[in-house]
Amino acid sequence: MKVAAVLVLCVTLLCQANSNSLDSCQGRCGYGTDSGYSCQCNPSCERYGDCCSDYYAQCKDSALSCNGRCNENYNSQNECHCNSKCPQYNNCCSDYTDLCDSTSGGGGGTITDAEIKSVSEALYALDSNKASASQLSINPQTLVSDSQTSLKKDLSSKPLFSYLDEGSLFSKPTYAALLAVLDNYHRMTGTTEDFSSQQLTEQETFIKETMSKTEVGRELFTFLYTKGVYASEEEFLQDLKMMWFGLYSRYNGKLDSSGFEHIFAGEIKGGKVSGFHNWIQFYLLEKRGQLNYYSHSFNGPWTSYPDILGMQFMWEGYFKQVGSAVIGCSPEFDFAIYSLCYIARPGKQCRLSLGGKELIIQTYTWNNSSYGNGKKYIASAFPATP
Ligand SMILES: *[C@@H]1O[C@H](CO)[C@@H](O)[C@H](O)[C@H]1NC(C)=O
Ligand SMILES: *[C@@H]1O[C@H](CO)[C@@H](O)[C@H](O)[C@H]1NC(C)=O
Repeated sequence: MKVAAVLVLCVTLLCQANSNSLDSCQGRCGYGTDSGYSCQCNPSCERYGDCCSDYYAQCKDSALSCNGRCNENYNSQNECHCNSKCPQYNNCCSDYTDLCDSTSGGGGGTITDAEIKSVSEALYALDSNKASASQLSINPQTLVSDSQTSLKKDLSSKPLFSYLDEGSLFSKPTYAALLAVLDNYHRMTGTTEDFSSQQLTEQETFIKETMSKTEVGRELFTFLYTKGVYASEEEFLQDLKMMWFGLYSRYNGKLDSSGFEHIFAGEIKGGKVSGFHNWIQFYLLEKRGQLNYYSHSFNGPWTSYPDILGMQFMWEGYFKQVGSAVIGCSPEFDFAIYSLCYIARPGKQCRLSLGGKELIIQTYTWNNSSYGNGKKYIASAFPATP
Protein backbone atom coordinates (compact mmCIF):
# COMPACT_ATOMS: atom_id res chain seq x y z
CA MET A 1 0.00 0.00 0.00
CA LYS A 2 1.20 3.43 -0.82
CA VAL A 3 2.25 5.57 2.10
CA ALA A 4 0.21 8.51 0.87
CA ALA A 5 -2.94 6.43 0.76
CA VAL A 6 -2.36 5.19 4.30
CA LEU A 7 -1.93 8.72 5.54
CA VAL A 8 -5.10 9.87 3.84
CA LEU A 9 -7.00 6.97 5.35
CA CYS A 10 -5.44 7.72 8.67
CA VAL A 11 -6.30 11.35 8.62
CA THR A 12 -9.86 10.86 7.52
CA LEU A 13 -10.87 7.81 9.52
CA LEU A 14 -8.56 6.78 12.26
CA CYS A 15 -6.14 9.29 13.50
CA GLN A 16 -8.05 12.46 13.95
CA ALA A 17 -7.38 12.58 17.66
CA ASN A 18 -3.87 11.27 17.64
CA SER A 19 -1.41 11.81 14.88
CA ASN A 20 1.03 9.30 16.37
CA SER A 21 -1.30 6.36 16.33
CA LEU A 22 0.18 4.69 13.26
CA ASP A 23 2.88 3.23 15.49
CA SER A 24 1.00 3.15 18.80
CA CYS A 25 -1.39 0.69 20.39
CA GLN A 26 -3.43 3.42 21.98
CA GLY A 27 -7.05 2.48 21.42
CA ARG A 28 -6.08 -0.58 19.34
CA CYS A 29 -5.37 -3.33 21.88
CA GLY A 30 -6.75 -6.65 20.79
CA TYR A 31 -7.93 -5.52 17.35
CA GLY A 32 -7.14 -7.65 14.33
CA THR A 33 -3.99 -7.25 12.28
CA ASP A 34 -4.29 -4.20 10.05
CA SER A 35 -1.63 -3.51 7.44
CA GLY A 36 -2.69 0.13 7.45
CA TYR A 37 -0.58 0.48 10.59
CA SER A 38 3.15 0.15 10.88
CA CYS A 39 2.86 -2.23 13.85
CA GLN A 40 0.25 -4.44 15.51
CA CYS A 41 -1.45 -4.75 18.88
CA ASN A 42 -2.89 -8.22 19.23
CA PRO A 43 -1.42 -11.47 20.57
CA SER A 44 -0.26 -12.63 17.13
CA CYS A 45 2.16 -9.67 16.96
CA GLU A 46 4.09 -11.42 19.72
CA ARG A 47 4.57 -14.36 17.39
CA TYR A 48 5.33 -12.30 14.27
CA GLY A 49 7.48 -9.76 16.03
CA ASP A 50 5.57 -6.77 14.69
CA CYS A 51 4.09 -5.38 17.91
CA CYS A 52 4.14 -1.64 18.43
CA SER A 53 6.73 -0.48 20.93
CA ASP A 54 4.03 0.43 23.44
CA TYR A 55 2.14 -2.86 23.02
CA TYR A 56 3.11 -4.26 26.41
CA ALA A 57 2.48 -1.04 28.27
CA GLN A 58 -0.81 -0.30 26.52
CA CYS A 59 -2.23 -3.75 26.06
CA LYS A 60 -0.77 -6.29 28.40
CA ASP A 61 -1.21 -4.80 31.86
CA SER A 62 -4.74 -3.73 31.15
CA ALA A 63 -5.37 -6.97 29.32
CA LEU A 64 -4.90 -8.78 32.61
CA SER A 65 -7.17 -6.43 34.52
CA CYS A 66 -10.88 -5.62 34.42
CA ASN A 67 -10.16 -1.95 34.98
CA GLY A 68 -12.58 -0.14 32.66
CA ARG A 69 -13.74 -3.43 31.12
CA CYS A 70 -16.57 -4.61 33.37
CA ASN A 71 -19.34 -6.29 31.37
CA GLU A 72 -17.60 -5.71 28.03
CA ASN A 73 -18.61 -8.05 25.21
CA TYR A 74 -16.73 -11.33 25.02
CA ASN A 75 -13.66 -11.13 22.82
CA SER A 76 -11.73 -14.36 22.34
CA GLN A 77 -8.53 -12.37 21.80
CA ASN A 78 -8.44 -11.23 25.40
CA GLU A 79 -6.37 -13.23 27.83
CA CYS A 80 -8.98 -12.93 30.55
CA HIS A 81 -12.53 -11.69 30.69
CA CYS A 82 -14.75 -9.31 32.61
CA ASN A 83 -18.33 -10.21 31.75
CA SER A 84 -20.86 -12.01 33.90
CA LYS A 85 -20.15 -15.34 32.22
CA CYS A 86 -16.45 -15.43 33.10
CA PRO A 87 -16.93 -16.96 36.59
CA GLN A 88 -18.78 -19.81 34.97
CA TYR A 89 -15.98 -20.41 32.44
CA ASN A 90 -13.26 -19.76 34.98
CA ASN A 91 -11.56 -17.20 32.75
CA CYS A 92 -12.10 -13.93 34.64
CA CYS A 93 -9.23 -11.53 35.16
CA SER A 94 -7.92 -11.76 38.69
CA ASP A 95 -9.44 -8.44 39.77
CA TYR A 96 -12.87 -9.26 38.31
CA THR A 97 -14.52 -9.84 41.69
CA ASP A 98 -13.18 -6.63 43.18
CA LEU A 99 -13.93 -4.41 40.20
CA CYS A 100 -16.97 -5.88 38.49
CA ASP A 101 -18.70 -8.55 40.50
CA SER A 102 -22.03 -7.05 41.37
CA THR A 103 -23.49 -10.51 40.87
CA SER A 104 -23.51 -12.84 43.84
CA GLY A 105 -24.98 -10.11 45.97
CA GLY A 106 -22.27 -8.00 44.50
CA GLY A 107 -20.37 -4.92 45.40
CA GLY A 108 -17.84 -7.16 47.15
CA GLY A 109 -15.31 -4.39 46.78
CA THR A 110 -17.56 -1.69 48.14
CA ILE A 111 -18.27 -3.17 51.56
CA THR A 112 -15.37 -2.53 53.90
CA ASP A 113 -14.05 -4.79 56.66
CA ALA A 114 -15.08 -2.16 59.20
CA GLU A 115 -18.65 -2.20 57.88
CA ILE A 116 -18.77 -5.99 58.10
CA LYS A 117 -17.58 -5.79 61.70
CA SER A 118 -20.10 -3.14 62.56
CA VAL A 119 -23.10 -4.86 60.98
CA SER A 120 -22.13 -8.21 62.54
CA GLU A 121 -22.04 -6.57 65.99
CA ALA A 122 -25.52 -5.23 65.27
CA LEU A 123 -26.77 -8.69 64.25
CA TYR A 124 -25.20 -10.16 67.38
CA ALA A 125 -26.92 -7.61 69.60
CA LEU A 126 -30.27 -8.16 67.88
CA ASP A 127 -30.27 -11.96 68.19
CA SER A 128 -33.03 -12.13 70.78
CA ASN A 129 -33.98 -15.69 69.74
CA LYS A 130 -30.64 -17.20 70.69
CA ALA A 131 -30.46 -19.77 73.49
CA SER A 132 -29.81 -18.51 77.01
CA ALA A 133 -27.69 -20.36 79.57
CA SER A 134 -30.86 -21.71 81.18
CA GLN A 135 -32.17 -23.02 77.84
CA LEU A 136 -29.04 -24.81 76.59
CA SER A 137 -26.14 -26.67 78.23
CA ILE A 138 -23.27 -28.23 76.35
CA ASN A 139 -20.57 -30.60 77.53
CA PRO A 140 -17.59 -30.34 75.17
CA GLN A 141 -15.40 -32.83 77.14
CA THR A 142 -12.16 -33.76 75.36
CA LEU A 143 -10.20 -31.09 73.50
CA VAL A 144 -7.78 -32.46 70.90
CA SER A 145 -5.02 -30.67 69.00
CA ASP A 146 -5.29 -29.89 65.30
CA SER A 147 -3.00 -32.82 64.52
CA GLN A 148 -5.32 -35.23 66.36
CA THR A 149 -8.54 -34.45 64.52
CA SER A 150 -8.12 -37.47 62.23
CA LEU A 151 -7.85 -40.00 65.08
CA LYS A 152 -11.48 -41.16 64.70
CA LYS A 153 -11.59 -41.97 68.41
CA ASP A 154 -14.56 -41.44 70.67
CA LEU A 155 -12.84 -39.44 73.40
CA SER A 156 -16.08 -38.14 74.94
CA SER A 157 -18.39 -40.65 76.57
CA LYS A 158 -21.27 -38.21 76.99
CA PRO A 159 -23.24 -36.32 74.34
CA LEU A 160 -22.21 -32.78 73.43
CA PHE A 161 -25.67 -31.42 74.17
CA SER A 162 -26.68 -32.11 77.75
CA TYR A 163 -29.82 -29.98 77.83
CA LEU A 164 -32.01 -28.01 75.46
CA ASP A 165 -35.28 -26.37 76.35
CA GLU A 166 -37.04 -27.51 73.18
CA GLY A 167 -40.39 -26.27 74.43
CA SER A 168 -39.39 -22.64 74.49
CA LEU A 169 -36.98 -22.61 71.53
CA PHE A 170 -38.54 -24.93 68.97
CA SER A 171 -41.88 -23.17 69.24
CA LYS A 172 -40.34 -19.94 67.98
CA PRO A 173 -41.30 -19.45 64.31
CA THR A 174 -37.74 -19.40 62.93
CA TYR A 175 -36.76 -22.60 64.77
CA ALA A 176 -39.97 -24.29 63.61
CA ALA A 177 -39.24 -23.13 60.04
CA LEU A 178 -35.71 -24.54 60.21
CA LEU A 179 -36.89 -27.91 61.57
CA ALA A 180 -39.36 -28.12 58.69
CA VAL A 181 -36.67 -27.73 55.99
CA LEU A 182 -33.90 -29.73 57.65
CA ASP A 183 -35.57 -33.08 56.96
CA ASN A 184 -36.20 -32.49 53.25
CA TYR A 185 -32.87 -33.85 52.01
CA HIS A 186 -31.14 -37.05 50.90
CA ARG A 187 -27.77 -36.81 52.55
CA MET A 188 -25.95 -38.94 49.93
CA THR A 189 -24.42 -37.00 47.06
CA GLY A 190 -25.36 -38.61 43.77
CA THR A 191 -28.99 -38.92 44.90
CA THR A 192 -31.25 -36.40 43.17
CA GLU A 193 -33.14 -34.04 45.46
CA ASP A 194 -36.78 -33.59 44.59
CA PHE A 195 -39.22 -31.51 46.56
CA SER A 196 -42.96 -31.67 47.03
CA SER A 197 -44.86 -28.40 46.79
CA GLN A 198 -45.16 -28.55 50.59
CA GLN A 199 -41.36 -28.73 50.88
CA LEU A 200 -40.90 -25.82 48.47
CA THR A 201 -43.27 -23.82 50.63
CA GLU A 202 -41.15 -24.72 53.65
CA GLN A 203 -38.12 -23.17 51.92
CA GLU A 204 -40.07 -19.97 51.27
CA THR A 205 -41.32 -19.93 54.84
CA PHE A 206 -37.80 -20.35 56.21
CA ILE A 207 -36.54 -17.37 54.21
CA LYS A 208 -39.53 -15.22 55.07
CA GLU A 209 -39.53 -16.05 58.78
CA THR A 210 -35.79 -15.57 59.22
CA MET A 211 -35.20 -12.61 56.92
CA SER A 212 -38.47 -10.63 56.79
CA LYS A 213 -39.89 -11.22 60.22
CA THR A 214 -36.92 -10.85 62.56
CA GLU A 215 -34.85 -7.88 63.55
CA VAL A 216 -31.73 -9.80 62.54
CA GLY A 217 -33.04 -10.33 59.00
CA ARG A 218 -34.27 -6.77 58.65
CA GLU A 219 -30.94 -5.40 59.87
CA LEU A 220 -29.10 -7.46 57.26
CA PHE A 221 -31.42 -6.32 54.48
CA THR A 222 -31.17 -2.66 55.52
CA PHE A 223 -27.40 -2.89 55.44
CA LEU A 224 -27.27 -4.52 52.00
CA TYR A 225 -29.88 -2.14 50.65
CA THR A 226 -27.92 0.85 51.94
CA LYS A 227 -24.81 -0.51 50.27
CA GLY A 228 -26.70 -0.79 46.97
CA VAL A 229 -26.43 -4.57 46.79
CA TYR A 230 -30.20 -5.01 46.52
CA ALA A 231 -32.77 -2.56 45.24
CA SER A 232 -35.73 -4.07 47.09
CA GLU A 233 -36.55 -6.60 49.77
CA GLU A 234 -38.20 -8.76 47.15
CA GLU A 235 -34.93 -8.91 45.18
CA PHE A 236 -33.02 -9.74 48.38
CA LEU A 237 -35.35 -12.61 49.33
CA GLN A 238 -35.41 -14.00 45.80
CA ASP A 239 -31.62 -13.92 45.57
CA LEU A 240 -31.25 -15.68 48.93
CA LYS A 241 -33.67 -18.34 47.77
CA MET A 242 -31.62 -19.11 44.67
CA MET A 243 -28.25 -18.74 46.41
CA TRP A 244 -29.19 -21.15 49.22
CA PHE A 245 -31.86 -23.47 47.88
CA GLY A 246 -31.05 -23.65 44.16
CA LEU A 247 -29.92 -27.19 43.30
CA TYR A 248 -26.63 -28.15 41.71
CA SER A 249 -24.67 -31.33 41.21
CA ARG A 250 -21.84 -32.50 43.44
CA TYR A 251 -21.70 -36.00 42.01
CA ASN A 252 -22.50 -37.81 38.80
CA GLY A 253 -24.50 -34.98 37.21
CA LYS A 254 -27.42 -35.49 39.63
CA LEU A 255 -29.04 -32.38 41.14
CA ASP A 256 -28.13 -33.65 44.58
CA SER A 257 -27.02 -30.59 46.53
CA SER A 258 -27.56 -26.98 47.54
CA GLY A 259 -25.88 -24.51 49.85
CA PHE A 260 -28.58 -25.03 52.45
CA GLU A 261 -28.31 -28.81 52.36
CA HIS A 262 -24.53 -28.73 52.54
CA ILE A 263 -24.20 -26.17 55.30
CA PHE A 264 -27.27 -26.72 57.48
CA ALA A 265 -28.22 -30.38 56.92
CA GLY A 266 -24.85 -31.91 56.00
CA GLU A 267 -24.08 -34.42 53.25
CA ILE A 268 -22.13 -37.63 52.71
CA LYS A 269 -19.55 -37.52 49.94
CA GLY A 270 -16.65 -39.84 49.25
CA GLY A 271 -17.36 -41.90 52.39
CA LYS A 272 -17.30 -39.00 54.80
CA VAL A 273 -19.40 -36.16 56.13
CA SER A 274 -19.24 -33.06 53.96
CA GLY A 275 -20.44 -29.67 55.17
CA PHE A 276 -22.66 -29.85 58.30
CA HIS A 277 -22.27 -26.56 60.17
CA ASN A 278 -25.49 -26.10 62.11
CA TRP A 279 -25.91 -26.79 65.80
CA ILE A 280 -29.61 -27.65 65.69
CA GLN A 281 -29.07 -30.42 63.12
CA PHE A 282 -26.26 -31.72 65.35
CA TYR A 283 -28.53 -31.64 68.39
CA LEU A 284 -31.39 -33.45 66.61
CA LEU A 285 -29.24 -36.26 65.24
CA GLU A 286 -27.39 -36.71 68.52
CA LYS A 287 -30.68 -36.93 70.40
CA ARG A 288 -31.93 -39.62 68.00
CA GLY A 289 -28.77 -41.64 68.53
CA GLN A 290 -27.64 -41.15 64.93
CA LEU A 291 -24.64 -38.98 65.72
CA ASN A 292 -21.81 -39.74 68.14
CA TYR A 293 -19.76 -36.80 69.41
CA TYR A 294 -16.04 -37.67 69.69
CA SER A 295 -14.12 -34.53 70.67
CA HIS A 296 -13.59 -30.91 69.78
CA SER A 297 -10.50 -29.20 68.43
CA PHE A 298 -11.64 -25.60 68.85
CA ASN A 299 -13.68 -23.76 71.45
CA GLY A 300 -14.19 -20.04 70.84
CA PRO A 301 -13.56 -17.36 73.46
CA TRP A 302 -17.22 -16.52 74.05
CA THR A 303 -18.63 -17.23 77.50
CA SER A 304 -22.31 -17.06 76.56
CA TYR A 305 -24.22 -18.19 73.47
CA PRO A 306 -23.55 -18.03 70.67
CA ASP A 307 -20.17 -19.75 70.98
CA ILE A 308 -18.12 -21.52 68.30
CA LEU A 309 -16.95 -25.14 68.41
CA GLY A 310 -14.97 -27.28 65.95
CA MET A 311 -16.22 -30.85 66.46
CA GLN A 312 -15.13 -34.38 65.56
CA PHE A 313 -18.04 -36.77 65.25
CA MET A 314 -19.44 -39.86 63.57
CA TRP A 315 -22.78 -39.68 61.72
CA GLU A 316 -24.04 -43.23 61.26
CA GLY A 317 -20.71 -44.60 60.14
CA TYR A 318 -19.41 -41.46 58.43
CA PHE A 319 -16.73 -39.35 60.06
CA LYS A 320 -16.41 -35.58 60.22
CA GLN A 321 -12.90 -34.45 61.00
CA VAL A 322 -13.65 -30.82 61.84
CA GLY A 323 -17.27 -29.70 61.73
CA SER A 324 -17.38 -26.15 62.98
CA ALA A 325 -20.60 -24.44 63.97
CA VAL A 326 -22.01 -21.49 65.82
CA ILE A 327 -23.59 -23.00 68.94
CA GLY A 328 -26.75 -21.60 70.51
CA CYS A 329 -27.54 -18.89 67.98
CA SER A 330 -30.96 -18.53 66.38
CA PRO A 331 -31.53 -19.89 62.85
CA GLU A 332 -31.84 -16.32 61.57
CA PHE A 333 -28.44 -15.41 62.99
CA ASP A 334 -26.70 -18.39 61.35
CA PHE A 335 -28.44 -17.67 58.05
CA ALA A 336 -27.69 -13.94 58.28
CA ILE A 337 -23.97 -14.14 59.03
CA TYR A 338 -23.31 -16.80 56.38
CA SER A 339 -25.31 -14.77 53.85
CA LEU A 340 -23.56 -11.54 54.81
CA CYS A 341 -20.15 -13.16 54.37
CA TYR A 342 -21.07 -14.89 51.14
CA ILE A 343 -22.46 -11.68 49.67
CA ALA A 344 -19.71 -9.36 50.90
CA ARG A 345 -16.70 -11.70 50.66
CA PRO A 346 -17.63 -14.59 48.37
CA GLY A 347 -15.02 -17.35 48.39
CA LYS A 348 -12.92 -15.53 50.96
CA GLN A 349 -12.41 -15.11 54.66
CA CYS A 350 -14.85 -12.68 56.22
CA ARG A 351 -14.01 -11.06 59.53
CA LEU A 352 -16.93 -10.55 61.86
CA SER A 353 -17.00 -9.05 65.30
CA LEU A 354 -19.30 -10.62 67.89
CA GLY A 355 -19.29 -9.00 71.31
CA GLY A 356 -15.89 -7.48 70.59
CA LYS A 357 -14.32 -10.83 69.63
CA GLU A 358 -13.38 -11.74 66.09
CA LEU A 359 -15.02 -14.60 64.23
CA ILE A 360 -13.71 -15.50 60.79
CA ILE A 361 -16.19 -17.11 58.41
CA GLN A 362 -14.85 -18.86 55.32
CA THR A 363 -17.19 -19.15 52.36
CA TYR A 364 -16.85 -20.94 49.03
CA THR A 365 -18.56 -20.27 45.73
CA TRP A 366 -19.96 -23.10 43.62
CA ASN A 367 -18.15 -22.77 40.29
CA ASN A 368 -19.72 -25.42 38.08
CA SER A 369 -23.15 -23.94 37.49
CA SER A 370 -24.92 -20.65 38.08
CA TYR A 371 -28.30 -18.96 38.33
CA GLY A 372 -29.70 -15.69 37.04
CA ASN A 373 -27.18 -13.66 35.14
CA GLY A 374 -24.13 -15.75 36.07
CA LYS A 375 -24.60 -15.61 39.85
CA LYS A 376 -22.99 -18.32 41.89
CA TYR A 377 -24.66 -20.66 44.31
CA ILE A 378 -23.19 -20.90 47.78
CA ALA A 379 -20.97 -23.98 48.04
CA SER A 380 -20.00 -23.68 51.69
CA ALA A 381 -19.77 -21.37 54.69
CA PHE A 382 -18.46 -22.14 58.14
CA PRO A 383 -16.56 -20.68 61.08
CA ALA A 384 -12.82 -20.90 60.43
CA THR A 385 -11.20 -22.57 63.41
CA PRO A 386 -7.50 -21.90 63.09
C1 LIG B 1 -16.83 -29.21 37.77
O1 LIG B 1 -16.38 -28.87 36.49
C2 LIG B 1 -15.08 -29.36 36.19
C3 LIG B 1 -14.64 -28.79 34.86
O2 LIG B 1 -15.69 -28.80 33.95
C4 LIG B 1 -15.13 -30.90 36.21
O3 LIG B 1 -13.84 -31.41 35.97
C5 LIG B 1 -15.59 -31.35 37.59
O4 LIG B 1 -15.73 -32.76 37.61
C6 LIG B 1 -16.92 -30.71 37.93
N1 LIG B 1 -17.22 -31.04 39.31
C7 LIG B 1 -18.39 -31.49 39.69
C8 LIG B 1 -18.52 -31.77 41.12
O5 LIG B 1 -19.31 -31.65 38.92
C1 LIG C 1 -14.26 -22.00 43.06
O1 LIG C 1 -13.19 -21.32 42.47
C2 LIG C 1 -12.36 -20.64 43.38
C3 LIG C 1 -11.38 -19.80 42.58
O2 LIG C 1 -10.76 -20.58 41.60
C4 LIG C 1 -11.69 -21.68 44.28
O3 LIG C 1 -10.82 -21.05 45.18
C5 LIG C 1 -12.78 -22.43 45.03
O4 LIG C 1 -12.21 -23.44 45.83
C6 LIG C 1 -13.77 -23.04 44.05
N1 LIG C 1 -14.89 -23.59 44.78
C7 LIG C 1 -15.06 -24.88 44.96
C8 LIG C 1 -16.26 -25.27 45.74
O5 LIG C 1 -14.30 -25.73 44.53
